[in-house]
Amino acid sequence: MRTDTPQTIYRKDYTPPSYLVDTVELGFDLDPARTIVANRLTMRRNPASAQREIELYGEELELVALRLNGKTLGKRDYRIEGNLLRIAHAPEEVTLEIETLCAPEKNTALSGLYVSNGNFITQCEAEGFRRITYFPDRPDVMARYTVMLRADKERFPVLLSNGNLVEEGELGDGRHYAKWEDPFPKPSYLFALVAAKLVCQEEKFQLADGREALLQVWVEEGNLDKTDHAMQSLKRSIRWDEERYGLELDLDRFMIVATGDFNMGAMENKGLNIFNTKYVLANPRVATDVDFQGIEAVVGHEYFHNWTGNRVTCRDWFQLSLKEGLTVFRDQEFSGDMIGTSSGRAVNRIDQVRTLRQVQFPEDAGPMAHPVRPDSFVEINNFYTVTVYEKGAEVVRMYQTLLGREGFRKGMDLYFERHDGQAVECDDFRSAMADANGRNLDQFERWYSQSGTPVVQAEGRYDESARTYTLKLSQSCPPTPGQPDKLPFHIPVAVGLLGASGRDLPLTIDGKELGTTAVLELTESEQNFVFSGVAESPTPSLLRDFSAPVVLKYGYSDAELLHLFSHDSDPVNRWEAGQRLSMERLLKLTEVAAAGGELSLDDTFVEAMRKILTDDTLDPAFREQALLLPSESMIADQMDVVQPLPIHTARQFMRAEIGARLHNELLATYRSQQTPGEYSADAESIGRRALKNLALAYLGATPAEQALALAQEQFSNATNMTDRVAALGALIHANAPAAPDALNRFYDEFEDEALVIDKWFAMQATAATTDVAKVRKLMKHPAFNMRNPNRVRSLISSFCAANPVQFHAADGSGYAFWAEQVIALDALNPQIASRLSRAMDRWRRYTPELQAYMKQALEKVAGQTKLSNDVREVVSKALSN
Ligand code: TRP
Ligand code: ZN
Repeated sequence: MRTDTPQTIYRKDYTPPSYLVDTVELGFDLDPARTIVANRLTMRRNPASAQREIELYGEELELVALRLNGKTLGKRDYRIEGNLLRIAHAPEEVTLEIETLCAPEKNTALSGLYVSNGNFITQCEAEGFRRITYFPDRPDVMARYTVMLRADKERFPVLLSNGNLVEEGELGDGRHYAKWEDPFPKPSYLFALVAAKLVCQEEKFQLADGREALLQVWVEEGNLDKTDHAMQSLKRSIRWDEERYGLELDLDRFMIVATGDFNMGAMENKGLNIFNTKYVLANPRVATDVDFQGIEAVVGHEYFHNWTGNRVTCRDWFQLSLKEGLTVFRDQEFSGDMIGTSSGRAVNRIDQVRTLRQVQFPEDAGPMAHPVRPDSFVEINNFYTVTVYEKGAEVVRMYQTLLGREGFRKGMDLYFERHDGQAVECDDFRSAMADANGRNLDQFERWYSQSGTPVVQAEGRYDESARTYTLKLSQSCPPTPGQPDKLPFHIPVAVGLLGASGRDLPLTIDGKELGTTAVLELTESEQNFVFSGVAESPTPSLLRDFSAPVVLKYGYSDAELLHLFSHDSDPVNRWEAGQRLSMERLLKLTEVAAAGGELSLDDTFVEAMRKILTDDTLDPAFREQALLLPSESMIADQMDVVQPLPIHTARQFMRAEIGARLHNELLATYRSQQTPGEYSADAESIGRRALKNLALAYLGATPAEQALALAQEQFSNATNMTDRVAALGALIHANAPAAPDALNRFYDEFEDEALVIDKWFAMQATAATTDVAKVRKLMKHPAFNMRNPNRVRSLISSFCAANPVQFHAADGSGYAFWAEQVIALDALNPQIASRLSRAMDRWRRYTPELQAYMKQALEKVAGQTKLSNDVREVVSKALSN
């Protein structure tokens, strides 16, 4: 906890490190209360630096001894200022020996070395290594590590670190040791150790070049029945990277360790990935389809980092998207390839688009807006954002859209050829893409430097006599903090034209035949694209496959949207047309609800939904996506003044209308989409369950008794967690009399499964009937634990971020609760507190009455004298003009 004024760090102030580190030898005497860390560094002056002092970072450490080239340094030989230890007048080549103490069991921030359920775990990204030992803890210092671990054998039988195990043995007095060596130079943020009582599922796996690698998934005893999916996902990831990018596993051994106490999803430490249990443990009894998919994606993500992040890393933390945007893109493509079918891929893409719109667009429009490559930050942990990750992935995807798959692969090959073993910048990636393809991508740089979501306005004009269709595209980008004016972006706009029959028309521009989807390159504020030989007045399908992270505006009529919703060959745009139809109606209904008027839903819309629901030629997974209404937060995002209650009323009304008017079709769907027999997490079964459970949700939104009986029956007879939570959700949502009993039964059955109890908390936290008082009561439940991030997220964060009606209660009680919890959490775990503090980002968009309460809550937090830089940065940005 720092109390000094937070410092802003600027990208433009980058200077190279004064000393480079060749080798690091670490010795750990592991004791939860008092761990001794001996650190021996060989360093040499960096010729690229003008700075001559050695600079080491350290945080929450007790310095015991410091020796330079064998000589003990006294208090006058070095200075400690805040987190920096400086040694002046050091020679060219230096061996530094540093001995420090730390207290892992007191580490509730879960950064550095900490104790989780009696086990030692580390988390070093971004700046946690400095909480383990003094070090030039910055990603452009890459060194070779040797690690000696010593600990009590009974309590910590398993001792792991990066790389290869080179030695192990007994020490006497009940202690043992293990020595690990990582052959690859790495930045300190990729260091990891685990000393724990764990068991593993392991397997030898043959790599493309014939070598055998040992793969291990380590978990606590009792969880070996939940590791198989992670292991399969790991093997698929290794294969995929070999096949798609020619990238091989470069170690003889690759380990995954699961821990229940983790700030994020997972971490790509070299050869020793550490995961939140949420992204490892699964079997049909305890995990949902979404959990299974999440595990595959995250296992892939961390594995893919081995090349995009570890072998080629970031020069500084402003370049975070260099590894994160690229690796998210890679895990997205991996997930798509694992589904295989084109409609499955589309459903995967629709999910990505939904996340981007639901979470990233609001970030880009709020006080924390920042470019994919930020220019400044106070606390780097605050910049592990959807902008850096998901928008960053869209930016990478645009290279592929512009250059084609092969061109993109050429760019990747050149990137590794040039930069393997280096710490580089986003610009280096862009240069590799440009140079490998002989393209100028200078303007594309603006995707990295300008924040905000660009708006593309489209207008079409058909000339019957000339048989031309002219598409006028213009672009603008709203101002964001620190960036009032923007320059035009280089935007790939994928376009198709539909004829009256619903089929794609062939496209020709300037005599060039472009097939049925053309990628137009919008680079100026305004441009015209003229399609020739257009036989009839078309309906444009714009931004196919969501070809750029922009807001697309076009004055579609209802008839045009219905046409696209029925026929567009691009499944993403087909879905999109449905979303536009729903959104228009939801916004009108919200207005009517706010004015206390009578709500009604037109037949045209209901018929369009009926047509999709009953179209058996469509993949069930796609139908589910197409029938899902935009969320309350997405509706809020479209409004100048947000009124959470009318939004909720409008959406509930629409759900009930669909449920009632399509009752028979929904019931038939519910019955026809069952997945009897053994559970399988393949895409087709997942799609069927999703559609079936959506049908149940719609039926449950009506007052019909029959739906609740179905939900109860499904709840009791479910053979997998997907069906069980869907049924429980339907009961809770409908506020059914059977809901409380079902919740109790659910708790009793899964009491020993922490991840399922997280679901139990989250379902209650997001129920529209759960108010602040109820959340407070749940916080007193013996299973609630303020120190466990998963628990906090499932109860407190779910309530604040995903229960809009209650969080925005008219008396401001939700906001007061928020302030209280942010302050309480900040004393324990600033990263988790800071994430929660983002729930107030968009406070200026609400009604004046709500705004007043929100401001008060923000000021209460900002007024704390003891506050982490993490939370301080978020709340002060929210309050500033
Ligand atoms: N590099 C990790 C990933 O995206 C992110 C991460 C894991 C992280 N743990 C963290 C970031 C703690 C900041 C703090 O794969
Ligand atoms: Zn990552």
